[in-house]
Amino acid sequence: MKLVLKTALILIFHAVFCASQSSPSITCSYYAWQSANTTTYECALTISNPNGFDNFTRINGDHQPGFSDQNVTEIPFANGLTINIPQIICRQFANLKIIILDRIGITFVDNNSFRGCGHVERLNLNNNEISSVSVGAFWRNEKLKSLDLSENSIQILPENIFDNLSDLEVLNLSFNDFETIPNKTFKELDSLLDLRLAGVGMSRINPAWFENLGDLRYLYLYSNEISELSEDSFEDLDDLTLLNLSINPINGNFPPKIFEKLSKLTYLQLDQTGITNLNPKWFEKLDNLEQLFLKSNNISNLPDKIFDDLKSLRTLDISNNSLTVPRIASSTFDNLKTLQYLDLSYNSLTNLNPQWFINLQNLTTLLLTSNRISELPFGVFRPITRLMQLFLGNNNLKSINRNDFGNLSSLAHVYVQGNQIISADKRFFDDARALSFLNFLNNLCASENFIFFYLNRESNMQRLSRCLENSRFFVDTQTNFTINYTFFDAFHPGLHAQILSSRAAHITLSNAHTPRIEIIIGAQNNTRTIIQNSQGSIYADVSTPNILDLSQWRTFRVTWVNDVVLVFREDEKFPFIAQTIDRPFMIDYYGLKSPLSHTSWRVRPINIQRHN
Ligand SMILES: *[C@@H]1O[C@H](CO)[C@@H](O)[C@H](O)[C@H]1NC(C)=O
Ligand SMILES: *[C@@H]1O[C@H](CO)[C@@H](O)[C@H](O)[C@H]1NC(C)=O
Ligand SMILES: *[C@@H]1O[C@H](CO)[C@@H](O)[C@H](O)[C@H]1NC(C)=O
Ligand SMILES: *[C@@H]1O[C@H](CO)[C@@H](O)[C@H](O)[C@H]1NC(C)=O
Ligand SMILES: *[C@@H]1O[C@H](CO)[C@@H](O)[C@H](O)[C@H]1NC(C)=O
Ligand SMILES: *[C@@H]1O[C@H](CO)[C@@H](O)[C@H](O)[C@H]1NC(C)=O
Ligand SMILES: *[C@@H]1O[C@H](CO)[C@@H](O)[C@H](O)[C@H]1NC(C)=O
Ligand SMILES: *[C@@H]1O[C@H](CO)[C@@H](O)[C@H](O)[C@H]1NC(C)=O
Ligand SMILES: *[C@@H]1O[C@H](CO)[C@@H](O)[C@H](O)[C@H]1NC(C)=O
Ligand SMILES: *[C@@H]1O[C@H](CO)[C@@H](O)[C@H](O)[C@H]1NC(C)=O
Ligand SMILES: *[C@@H]1O[C@H](CO)[C@@H](O)[C@H](O)[C@H]1NC(C)=O
Ligand SMILES: *[C@@H]1O[C@H](CO)[C@@H](O)[C@H](O)[C@H]1NC(C)=O
Repeated sequence: MKLVLKTALILIFHAVFCASQSSPSITCSYYAWQSANTTTYECALTISNPNGFDNFTRINGDHQPGFSDQNVTEIPFANGLTINIPQIICRQFANLKIIILDRIGITFVDNNSFRGCGHVERLNLNNNEISSVSVGAFWRNEKLKSLDLSENSIQILPENIFDNLSDLEVLNLSFNDFETIPNKTFKELDSLLDLRLAGVGMSRINPAWFENLGDLRYLYLYSNEISELSEDSFEDLDDLTLLNLSINPINGNFPPKIFEKLSKLTYLQLDQTGITNLNPKWFEKLDNLEQLFLKSNNISNLPDKIFDDLKSLRTLDISNNSLTVPRIASSTFDNLKTLQYLDLSYNSLTNLNPQWFINLQNLTTLLLTSNRISELPFGVFRPITRLMQLFLGNNNLKSINRNDFGNLSSLAHVYVQGNQIISADKRFFDDARALSFLNFLNNLCASENFIFFYLNRESNMQRLSRCLENSRFFVDTQTNFTINYTFFDAFHPGLHAQILSSRAAHITLSNAHTPRIEIIIGAQNNTRTIIQNSQGSIYADVSTPNILDLSQWRTFRVTWVNDVVLVFREDEKFPFIAQTIDRPFMIDYYGLKSPLSHTSWRVRPINIQRHN
């Protein structure tokens, strides 16, 4: 049985192969499409002509009733193989308007290929193997509006090839192997709007090409070998709205005034162009720029005012660079009031500066994926009142806190997969009423991906119950002029406390909801730190002038391993005050108060571990 099948296949293959070898053929399947007020009559072409004969006398196929060759206006696609374009096509179908002959192995286009097609408006020859095009190939096709020669192997582009194409609006020459593009190649293309020259191995831009292209709107030059740009490169293109220069070895050497004449530009793509430092001059005249892409460069700093002239910017993508927190000025994004989309993914951010987002009221999408962010500063997303999508995947986050967000009514997509989240505040979920997509995969307290979170709130919260339960160890609170302690569950071996206060922040460690050991940071008008017992007998007392600050969070660590209380500043290795507990007890609770000041606290367990 198997053998028979195999033989049959060989026979079929043989038959097809020999047929294509011995009898070249061109056939149409005809279709008529009725739309509102017009009928389109088209030929789906099948061609078998591997030797490139051009002596065909007729294209085979049966017309639909009432139609003839004159009615054919489109070749929407072609199947098969041919190395040439037999002139019979344009002779038999003189009224063709659309010709699509992609991916059929064409190797050359000559003066006769389209001679008869005086009405053609759109011609696609992309993804063939064309290596030569005669200078007069398109001279008779004066109605052409769109010509696609992309993804071929054209090396020589004759200077006069586009003569007579004064109606041409779209010209796609991308991904060819041009040796040179002569100065006057595009001189007759008065109507050209869209010119694509990506991936053509070009090493420099010749301003002479663009001299007559005053109407050009779209220019694609990505994936070339451009290493040098002159100031006048684009000076004739004052209508340009899109410029794509990505993936060129420019090494960031854009002359300061390179984009000066492009005041209508709305879209500028400069990915992978070796930029290390942005120059504010580049953007000075780009009042209308809406989208700026700076992906995959080596940008390590964003100075103050760098984007201040971009008054219309809606999308800013600086992903995959080398940005660090201290090297992005606090006011970098201050003038971007129209910004809707900000991508800072794949950088080296270990933290976020809450000042960055202060003026981004219109931001809806913020991407911070794949940085090394371990903690969100208090209230960081509060100014972004319209936030809809937040991407925080692949960072080192440990908790989700309600207080980091303002109004959560718009938030619909949250991506926090691949962090070390051990705790999540229930109030976050209660308030994020629109939450739809929540990717929580690969975290410590849960690994779940939720779609349409709001549909099954109860059971989804159940699946996050361990995270919600753990949030009691993550305390964000204020103790403004409180005389009595508020108690929280303590977690061995200690706690991290961020404190915003002018003086006297009290922490007590206890086995019950009553104070035992008290630590007073910034006692005596913010000059000393004291450890005392609940009766007020002082055990330790050190000078710590200005240890607290009302305008800046100060970070401390308090540990109680082996009945020794140690208090550290920030990440310091040695404690600045220490005390052995003389009558040891189990520390199950800690309390916070600040009888003499407004004090805000963010308390976290040290050494967070998975716990039930
Ligand atoms: C056919 O309809 C389109 C829009 O539906 C309209 O623009 C066009 O002018 C119409 N053509 C004729 C010949 O009526
Ligand atoms: C076209 O020319 C080739 C080679 O000269 C020949 O074999 C073939 O029969 C010709 N076809 C027609 C339709 O004349
Ligand atoms: C086909 O074209 C002819 C000549 O242009 C025209 O008279 C005829 O109406 C067309 N047929 C249809 C079905 O449109
Ligand atoms: C195509 O036509 C042009 C202009 O008439 C002529 O110079 C050129 O030699 C022709 N090319 C071929 C291959 O016949
Ligand atoms: C097209 O352009 C060529 C070269 O510029 C010219 O010789 C020719 O007369 C023009 N018109 C036509 C219909 O080919
Ligand atoms: C060439 O450019 C045109 C014009 O925008 C575009 O529609 C077409 O998809 C491009 N062709 C290819 C193969 O990318
Ligand atoms: C092409 O244009 C460049 C730049 O404008 C000019 O330097 C060069 O001489 C021109 N070449 C020819 C052959 O006209
Ligand atoms: C610009 O070029 C880049 C690099 O190839 C590409 O990813 C991007 O989609 C292009 N932009 C447009 C609008 O084509
Ligand atoms: C912010 O967005 C709203 C709604 O889309 C829009 O009306 C408003 O003009 C935008 N504000 C700025 C400064 O772009
Ligand atoms: C505590 O004081 C701060 C600063 O004055 C204030 O923003 C906050 O709302 C107060 N909190 C409470 C719970 O009173
Ligand atoms: C503080 O605690 C004491 C003793 O438990 C109680 O009498 C007092 O009312 C509390 N004060 C406040 C402000 O809660
Ligand atoms: C407390 O310290 C502040 C700032 O150093 C100072 O202005 C104030 O006079 C001090 N108050 C007392 C009571 O010493």
